[in-house]
Amino acid sequence: MATHFTRRNFCLTTSVASLALLTQSSLLSEPAAASSLFVRRNVGGMNAFDPVIVAYRKAIATMRALPATDPRSWSYQAAIHGTFTTPAQTAWNSCQHANYFFWSWHRMYLYWFERICRRMACDDCFALPYWDYNNPAERQLPSMFRDPASDLFISARNPAMNSGAGSLPAWAVDYSAGLAQINFNTASSSLESLPHNQVHVLVGGWMGSVPTAAQDPIFFLHHCNMDRLWNLWLAQGGRIDPVFDNVWKNTKYTFFDEEGAQLEMTGCEILRAAQQLHYVYEGEPPQVNDFCFPIIKWPPIIFEKELILKLATQPVTLGPEPVSVPVDWKDTRQRLASLAESKTSALFLELDGVEAERQPGVAWQIFLGLPPGTEPTDDSPYLVGAIALFGQGIRGESHDHERFEPAKFAFPISRALLAGFKANRDRWTITFVPRGILIDGKPSQPKVEAPLKIAAISISVENQKPGKDKD
Ligand code: C2O
Repeated sequence: MATHFTRRNFCLTTSVASLALLTQSSLLSEPAAASSLFVRRNVGGMNAFDPVIVAYRKAIATMRALPATDPRSWSYQAAIHGTFTTPAQTAWNSCQHANYFFWSWHRMYLYWFERICRRMACDDCFALPYWDYNNPAERQLPSMFRDPASDLFISARNPAMNSGAGSLPAWAVDYSAGLAQINFNTASSSLESLPHNQVHVLVGGWMGSVPTAAQDPIFFLHHCNMDRLWNLWLAQGGRIDPVFDNVWKNTKYTFFDEEGAQLEMTGCEILRAAQQLHYVYEGEPPQVNDFCFPIIKWPPIIFEKELILKLATQPVTLGPEPVSVPVDWKDTRQRLASLAESKTSALFLELDGVEAERQPGVAWQIFLGLPPGTEPTDDSPYLVGAIALFGQGIRGESHDHERFEPAKFAFPISRALLAGFKANRDRWTITFVPRGILIDGKPSQPKVEAPLKIAAISISVENQKPGKDKD
């Protein structure tokens, strides 16, 4: 008991140190939350003997030893995210992808999973670490996850990621385009596509597929980083969660607590990580506190999307070779040029009806307007993003073939358009180039496990309008 008490004290000290990072206003108003803040630390500074890693391993081993019927067991927790096992038990397969519950559902899932880990590790201080892969020093799989003797090791991953020779390329984890979006839905889906999907596919193995992903312990560090990006996105200012949307606020999701008791949670309960859920991320700026005020009915800004031009109506199939699709601007070129300059409009390249039979296991970089004879390099101004399928769009992973839905993607293109219009070229293309991880720091030739089909390509604009004032 004495040790227990000492560790608890240590935990509180750490939390108090982190308080200095938070805004005074949020803390002064919620002194109760301040006494029990957990800090989710960057795995980058840790080794295998770090108390966080030791506790996580212990939690995993304990959860794996529980009977599969126990909702706190490793397999049951992973099945809440997704599973191929049938018949489905309570709360299985509930992960939310390709919609605006992506951030909120995964925040709830991590929160209850972390509480269960804390109990299973007998460590009152435990908080999940995050994997900051956009940091050039953290592009390899964290070292303790590569030790074959560890509970953190999963042999099914891309072998080069497991050996340490492999690393994530910068373009696959650069989240600046997603963070720059003002609209919650656009930012969330852009960041879900990149870095989220890219990291799943490039780590590979169980991580590459929704029904198996959460069986890999690295999943939870990846998602802590995605959750941290939500905070970072808000902290830039001028952005707000969908607190005007009743469906987003009130939809209930089912989880289990550390006693194994079933419960429900809504969006309104997880808006403020420190105040409501008692955690902060190491090194993050002051958290923004959004609220579900019932009296405000309209967002300050409304975003309206409009289709501008259909580019390809023939399906495009992507395989191991680069593919170029010609673009015919017709008479919209002038309009696009002025929209690309506008401060209140954002132009997107949209890919619809994207699907594959199985996980293709690669990502395709997309270049818009790459001049003929120019190499499609990672720092090209014509690079607009990359497609990697996870969740949506994979036929073999759909539980119910009736309900199969292809994926759709939208990539911001204003920068590439301006670069192209400046070069004043009339013949434009969209070029797709298959890419994999870096091996020993160099691009590798990825193996395409299944071709990808794109049914339609178009350009749309998202216009900002002032929100309506109710009265
Ligand atoms: Cu629900 Cu990264 O997955």
